[in-house]
Amino acid sequence: MKKFMVSFPAEGVEILVEKNTSLQQVIIEQGLDMEFPCGGVGACKRCQVKIKSPGEKDFRVQLACQTKVDRNLIVEIPGREKTTKILLEGMERAVKLSPLIKRVRHELIPPTLEDNQDDFSRLLGKKKMTASLKLLQELPMFLRKNKFKVTALVTKDEILALEPFDAVDTSLGVAFDIGTTTIAGYLINLKTGEEITRFSALNPQTKYGADLISRIVYTSENEDGLKRLNGEVIHQINQMIDDATAEYGYSAKDVVIITAAGNTAMHHLLLNIPPRNLAGSPYVPVVKQAVIADAKELGIQIHPSGKLYTFPNIAGYVGGDTVAASLSCEMHKSKDLTLLIDIGTNGEIVLGTNKKLLSCSVAAGPAFEGVEIECGMRGAQGAIDHAFITEDGSFAYSVIGDTQPEGIAGSGIVDVLAVLLDIGVIDKNGKILKPDSIRHPIGKKVSHQIKEVNGKMAFVIFEHPVEGAKVYLTQKDVREFQLAKSAIASGVQILLAEYPAKVEDIQTLYIAGAFGTYLNHENACRVGMFPEALLGRTVNLGNAAGTGARLALLSNKEYEESKKISEKIMYIELSSHPDFNETFLKNLGFKAE
Ligand code: FES
Repeated sequence: MKKFMVSFPAEGVEILVEKNTSLQQVIIEQGLDMEFPCGGVGACKRCQVKIKSPGEKDFRVQLACQTKVDRNLIVEIPGREKTTKILLEGMERAVKLSPLIKRVRHELIPPTLEDNQDDFSRLLGKKKMTASLKLLQELPMFLRKNKFKVTALVTKDEILALEPFDAVDTSLGVAFDIGTTTIAGYLINLKTGEEITRFSALNPQTKYGADLISRIVYTSENEDGLKRLNGEVIHQINQMIDDATAEYGYSAKDVVIITAAGNTAMHHLLLNIPPRNLAGSPYVPVVKQAVIADAKELGIQIHPSGKLYTFPNIAGYVGGDTVAASLSCEMHKSKDLTLLIDIGTNGEIVLGTNKKLLSCSVAAGPAFEGVEIECGMRGAQGAIDHAFITEDGSFAYSVIGDTQPEGIAGSGIVDVLAVLLDIGVIDKNGKILKPDSIRHPIGKKVSHQIKEVNGKMAFVIFEHPVEGAKVYLTQKDVREFQLAKSAIASGVQILLAEYPAKVEDIQTLYIAGAFGTYLNHENACRVGMFPEALLGRTVNLGNAAGTGARLALLSNKEYEESKKISEKIMYIELSSHPDFNETFLKNLGFKAE
């Protein structure tokens, strides 16, 4: 087979590849930093690269996922997307410190003829615990070498390791929220409960697709797909732990435990468990129960006897992150009816009280995270994050980083739509009206911003003096948004009908996730994402999954509580629910101006 040279001068990479290899595959295999949000089907147009043959003068812009290598190529990858605002804050809640793993010091009385109890029972005292065969093999020597004064690293039912009595007791833990798009981590001193630092990064798996399905499909269509995706996340968390511990004068080996909350697919990919059955009906996870794994076995480079605790899952599309989020607000203990909506790349909804909890999952996230919106982008520098009408009746917006706008974030889309609905630029069916049919005085004032962009009707938010329309919402974008907001509204209505309860019965609406945090709640109600009746009853939880992971790290009681939550939450599958289609169609429109 003929081979061609592909060079990436900026990255210092040169590689010979077989003719017709996809450029996406080359980029992924070389570990270059680039994302393929739609998984490489050519839909999102986000994988643009500049390419030329070695003799050519000018570069051409092409989609890497749609380019086959048919000659020698020089490739330039445009600058990595600017730092995304990753949400680390969450609602704090005090818990009694009782970590899942801790160090216990023992000063034992050496055996005598009168007291010839076996070594292991002597170590355990009254406790009932287990230990590995390896630890038992080393136990007699270790006890005697250390004159029966030892430190044991223990869980509630297992002795994990033995250390000298005077070993420095630095016991750290890391709580992770492994999101589809971002990973947030919290380094915690387990002796004091103090949070040493918090840190975050994009999930490197995004280069295999922004959404879960693309990644799951990648694992089933590529022989080493699962290994690669697992390797990406493990490498990333190792890196994050290394950096965070080093910065504060610790070592990664001081970390004895990790708790990790993620959706079911992220959970499976983290544990190297095949997620393929999540992609097709009946969407069955491999394991629902909380899994406790040896960190070393997964390639996580912390203390050699360190453990990874994951949260239990509820169903294929409602995972441990939802359990962790429910734990953070303790909705399972509340006598009042509460609603939790977590909008990430997918949307999860939980409704209930201490008696009963119902959950469902909705395909809502991509539009809110900007993936299916023509000028959409994540909440990063250059993204329009809010829009409003000024006192003098002009349309205005704010941009993250106060720079020239480059795109629009989910919270910006909600605001722009709420404003356009209020000033009659968009009608209740979601149609962008022609300028001459707008009656509202402010609507008339901004009607010159309604124009065709690339053959599509759009509302132009920012126009560059030379380059023309730069940030706009097309009619198709409005339709995408309607699908997403209807999915959330319909999910809430179906859970209420199943409970059964009325929306007015809900005392608190907890909103979790970054998108929810930056969202103007009034506008979210205006566009029909959240029930209008709940305006004034909303509470932002911030990164609720991260908070849940931290609580479990600090307290084994909280971790046990998460298991109870997962057993209590009943899952409702919306795709097969008899009322879903009708409810969904009813929720597509907007409330009239
Ligand atoms: S268009 Fe190439 S990854 Fe989406």
